[in-house]
Amino acid sequence: MKKIILIGIFLALPIIVLNSCNTSSAKSIAMESPNKDSYITIDTSKIPNDKFGESVRYGKELMLRTSYYIGPNGINGKYLGNKMNCTNCHQDAGTKPYSLNLMSSHDNYPQYRGRENKVLTLAERINNCIMRPHSGKPLPLDGKEMVAFLSYFKWISTFVPKDSLFKGAKNMEIFFPDVAASSARGKVLFTENCVRCHGEDGQGQYNADKSGYTYPPLWGKYGYQPGSSMHRIIKQAQWLKGNMPYDKVAIGKPHLTDAQALDIAAYVNDDAIHTRPNPKTFDYPNEMSKPIDYAHGPFGDTFTEQQHKYGPYKPIIAYWKKNNLKAVY
Ligand code: HEC
Ligand code: HEC
Repeated sequence: MKKIILIGIFLALPIIVLNSCNTSSAKSIAMESPNKDSYITIDTSKIPNDKFGESVRYGKELMLRTSYYIGPNGINGKYLGNKMNCTNCHQDAGTKPYSLNLMSSHDNYPQYRGRENKVLTLAERINNCIMRPHSGKPLPLDGKEMVAFLSYFKWISTFVPKDSLFKGAKNMEIFFPDVAASSARGKVLFTENCVRCHGEDGQGQYNADKSGYTYPPLWGKYGYQPGSSMHRIIKQAQWLKGNMPYDKVAIGKPHLTDAQALDIAAYVNDDAIHTRPNPKTFDYPNEMSKPIDYAHGPFGDTFTEQQHKYGPYKPIIAYWKKNNLKAVY
């Protein structure tokens, strides 16, 4: 009896080994050898040809042509208040390195969000972007569009490691100068680097059939709301460093210096000069989890609104550190 069991195990062994080889090779195809020293590329021809794949494809389309489908004149529903597309900020449909990359989002939710002081699902987080950058009304959580966004985020997440460590997962880092960011210096830099596409009035340019933008607006009634994270100067400067001017930046090779990116972000987000929709947004019930560049009090420290908005940021970070707290930005 014993002998037979033993022989059975020996016979089974090579099969077990073979099986594990198969699994790992299947995985390495799906993951395209993710490594934090190299950029991850996605092969959309691998989207499955089934019902789930259909939803993934529609999700990708929604990222790229959001306004066409669900904009103010959307063919599948009128949800957005402007004609911007998700990809205007989350470039390459959320897969471009250093561009508010969304490839780990599916793995990272549900997540505690200081802003609402509660745990949000990914669907609720998507609706925040529908409401703030797009001045829209929330998508029904079980509707075809939300399911498509979620399917797409799930599919792109299969290309990245579960610990979220990959090159370009976050925006580029900004090293803070000792001086505050200056909207006046930013205006000069804006003329030199941004006006040729976004226009002197910052209103951008529609595409040929006006279903979206060739160059999206940066402020005004069709720009993102002040409650958007893009309105925070550090957050925007990190994104500008990795992505703008559009024609001068290669992936990982910025054109602007850190100080220039901060000055330009200060000009773009200067509410004394530029208007935006829905200027009053109240949130962050928990002030200790407010990012330091979110410029609406009350604050968990002693710095002014002006300094939270424009810096210098180093003293704020040092203050938080001294109190054994981590400054968020
Ligand atoms: C004006 C720029 C802008 C537009 C347009 C925009 N977003 Fe965002 N989005 C942001 C910023 C900024 C963040 C915050 C990222 C951070 O906190 O680091 C964000 C965060 C997110 C997150 C959370 C990511 C995570 O892993 O925590 C999701 C999901 C998201 N956006 C989806 C979308 C979708 C879907 C659309 C289109 C309907 C969209 N966004 C349009 C700027 C934008
Ligand atoms: C060569 C044209 C070009 C130049 C120059 C340029 N941009 Fe852009 N910008 C774009 C395009 C195109 C997009 C949308 C990207 C996409 O959809 O993939 C964009 C998107 C943006 C966005 C996010 C969407 C929005 O409208 O809020 C911001 C912010 C932005 N640019 C700011 C700037 C700033 C600031 C400068 C100057 C430092 C600049 N851009 C220079 C073409 C340009």
